[in-house]
Amino acid sequence: MKPIKKDRFSIVFNQDGYLELVDFIKNNDFNKILILTDDNTKENCLDIFLSSITAANPEVSNLIISKLFYYSVKPGENSKNIDTSIEVWKFLIEKGFKRLDLIINLGGGMITDLGGFVASTFMRGIKFINVPTTLLGMVDASIGGKTGIDFREIKNIIGVFGFAKIVLVDFRFLATLNKRQKTAGYAEMIKHILISKTPELNKIKKVDYMEDISHKMIYQSIITKISIIDVDPLESDIRKFLNYGHTLGHAIESYLLSTDRELLHGEAIAIGIILETYLSYLKTGLDYDIVNDVKKHINTYFDIIKFSVTDISEVINLLKYDKKNSDEKPKFILLEKLGKPLVNQIVFEKEIRDAFKFYID
Ligand SMILES: NC(=O)c1ccc[n+]([C@@H]2O[C@H](COP(=O)([O-])OP(=O)(O)OC[C@H]3O[C@@H](n4cnc5c(N)ncnc54)[C@H](O)[C@@H]3O)[C@@H](O)[C@H]2O)c1
Repeated sequence: MKPIKKDRFSIVFNQDGYLELVDFIKNNDFNKILILTDDNTKENCLDIFLSSITAANPEVSNLIISKLFYYSVKPGENSKNIDTSIEVWKFLIEKGFKRLDLIINLGGGMITDLGGFVASTFMRGIKFINVPTTLLGMVDASIGGKTGIDFREIKNIIGVFGFAKIVLVDFRFLATLNKRQKTAGYAEMIKHILISKTPELNKIKKVDYMEDISHKMIYQSIITKISIIDVDPLESDIRKFLNYGHTLGHAIESYLLSTDRELLHGEAIAIGIILETYLSYLKTGLDYDIVNDVKKHINTYFDIIKFSVTDISEVINLLKYDKKNSDEKPKFILLEKLGKPLVNQIVFEKEIRDAFKFYID
């Protein structure tokens, strides 16, 4: 699979990717390297990662392995917080990490967001590499320089832009990912298809099972994200397109995180996509057939979640924390048509309630 090389970072794939990674480590002459995992990726992915480094370059792998330190955190979104960041910063200080050392984040979006944040703030920023192990991580979270943590139930409210020097995508990691997690990642792929300049809705209609998601589709999804962040890395303009489905998706995720009905990030985004596709019909004239198609397709994979009137009010209340706001009014990304998102769309509370009604019906 062809590597994607940009000024700030490279995305490399599979076995060839390990060659690049080993070369990068060799050329930078790091003294210490931290591999950050969560307990699941430590169990399922670490051996594959280490043996692939050895296979890529048996001569230098011993040297690399002698520089490695390991730190593993508890799996799950609840670890993406300031307490875990402090634990990792403490570990780096105790082990004598310096500005010119390296962190390798081996995990899903929780680990790449957390590890990217820890690396970007430690000594004002040390280099890091992302090795995504979930579908969501591969197509979205590990790419594009957004790092951060949740704080007081608000998603990603503390964070910093920091680009992984290399993102290494190894499709073998998907083998141990459970179906629910894989499906959650698919939500971000649907988002990419809807906002892509060459949207092919019939592509998603052909995906009947998660096994139908090919490596080529994953690659294409990565290309869609790259084509946007390449033009607007710091989200002053078109990068906002990538927030499609996320204004309500994040508010739903944040709200449910504080209850016992917690959803995975991708599951909340899937609901956000349905709601914001309906809002696109209401506000920016998206064809109603597309709205129905998107809802039908997403509901094939994702359970329909019940929202009471109070739940909806709580979600609406959380919209004020959305990072796209310049004032108290939430700003939405809505579709005028497939592949044509419009930014800064104002939506009224009643319209949001109507969108929930459409979702639940
Ligand atoms: N920075 C960004 O641009 C960006 C974009 C989208 C999402 N995100 C963030 O990504 C996070 C969600 O990421 P995620 O869905 O990857 O969740 P995650 O990292 O929590 O991983 C999901 C679960 O799968 C397990 N796991 C990971 N890889 C595995 C493997 N190969 N085999 C077995 N188990 C494995 C993890 O331990 C965890 O339990 C959220 O915090 C979200 O905010 C960030």
